[in-house]
Amino acid sequence: MDSIRTQVGIVGAGPAGLLLAHLLHLRGIDTVVVELRSRDYVERRIRAGVLEHGTVDLLREVGLADRLLRERMVHEGLELLFEGEAHRIPLTELAGRQITIYGQHELVKDLIAARLATGRPLHFEAGAVALSDLDSERPVVSCADLSLECDFVVGCDGSHGVSRPSIPDGVLTSYERDYPYAWLGILAEAPPSSEELIYAYHERGFALHSMRSPQITRLYLQVAPDEDVAQWPDERIWAELRTRLSRDSGFALADGPILEKGVTALRSSVVDPMRYGRLFLAGDAAHIVPATGAKGLNLAVADVSVLAAAFDRFYATGKQDLLDAYSDTCLHRVWRVQHFSWWMTSMLHRAPDADPFSHQLQLSQLRYVTSSRAAAASLAENYVGLPLPCLPGPSASAGSSAPDGFASPLSPPAPAPDQ
Ligand code: FAD
Ligand code: PHB
Repeated sequence: MDSIRTQVGIVGAGPAGLLLAHLLHLRGIDTVVVELRSRDYVERRIRAGVLEHGTVDLLREVGLADRLLRERMVHEGLELLFEGEAHRIPLTELAGRQITIYGQHELVKDLIAARLATGRPLHFEAGAVALSDLDSERPVVSCADLSLECDFVVGCDGSHGVSRPSIPDGVLTSYERDYPYAWLGILAEAPPSSEELIYAYHERGFALHSMRSPQITRLYLQVAPDEDVAQWPDERIWAELRTRLSRDSGFALADGPILEKGVTALRSSVVDPMRYGRLFLAGDAAHIVPATGAKGLNLAVADVSVLAAAFDRFYATGKQDLLDAYSDTCLHRVWRVQHFSWWMTSMLHRAPDADPFSHQLQLSQLRYVTSSRAAAASLAENYVGLPLPCLPGPSASAGSSAPDGFASPLSPPAPAPDQ
């Protein structure tokens, strides 16, 4: 077994782990990334599609957005569809920012290419990963043929990873919410039927029309949490989508071969703190949001931007204050996003036991958010994304800052200046 020393051991090569590795590389901090799956598997895993403005800004500033900027689709609004009528929320007019449509697996390909170009280690199919000595000064990550002695370990291994379960019982407070529905998602070789995303509230359940390119659509249907995908032949999916996305006039859903099909549960979870000893948790390893707010990937990016600045300060000055503040800094944003994602989810889905009263409440909320500029602006501000608490670059380590023109009321105060 090889024994290696590194500054930061990163578990998981999803967006959080790979981006953190890149941000630390730019700061001259040594990392080793270990990933359970193969490169092919992680590059094909179809998941998120919506990137916030701040996520794209960060990727651009650290040189990771060349292909993204060439191939992305930029959206300035979205539609809420209910009672057979679509209502546009002009995101950019209301919140001053656009959103980007770019598949998560494409971003992962870009991040892997960038990592490999640095020549720093990235181990796919690492075998069973185990973490030990997490509360010591030399935590260890071990896998099949590697023992990594680290200054710090970052668990970026998603909701089913090994990092969170490696923390002793009783250390973390865990907040959980399950929803009585899931999403059946498809990727189809069909042109988008609308220029913007459509979030539909229908008496048969929620539906979402999204896209990946001018040739590829991504569509979702609310289904039961234990739904068997085998019960959904292609024609049934298209018929249900046509029903739920129908409107009184002017919409026809284009269909085509289905390239991918899968069921994803909707879940909220947060652990507090996002740290134990010298192990930090980031992204889905620390929190899950229901996909209705399109926030999980963006939250993972926000976490690692905070953590990279904290490591930068530690290695430059020996100060641990930003590392100590990491969890609180991130959790402010996490809970805002949790609330937004829960709110979007509750407004747009039909609970199996929904009574006529809750149906009327949901319709009332939808009418309000599509008729009041203030209510629509609140949705827009959350959807396009609040400013990242830390901008990239070593200078960010001095404290929190927000992009031009945006106050960042949600960031906790920056640490006191050095005496
Ligand atoms: P992951 O992407 O889960 O990466 C974790 C990595 O760790 C994986 O590569 C995994 O193989 C690896 N790993 C696991 N266990 C181990 C182990 N023991 N050892 C080593 N490696 C391990 N978010 C958005 O922002 N916008 C959206 O539009 C959006 N839509 C979504 C739609 C769907 C259907 C789903 C399922 C999610 C969506 N999300 C969205 C959420 C988003 O995909 C996740 O939040 C995001 O993948 C989190 O990134 P991560 O790097 O933290 O975790
Ligand atoms: C997607 O395109 O996959 C997508 C879009 C919006 C969401 C969730 C997923 O809220």
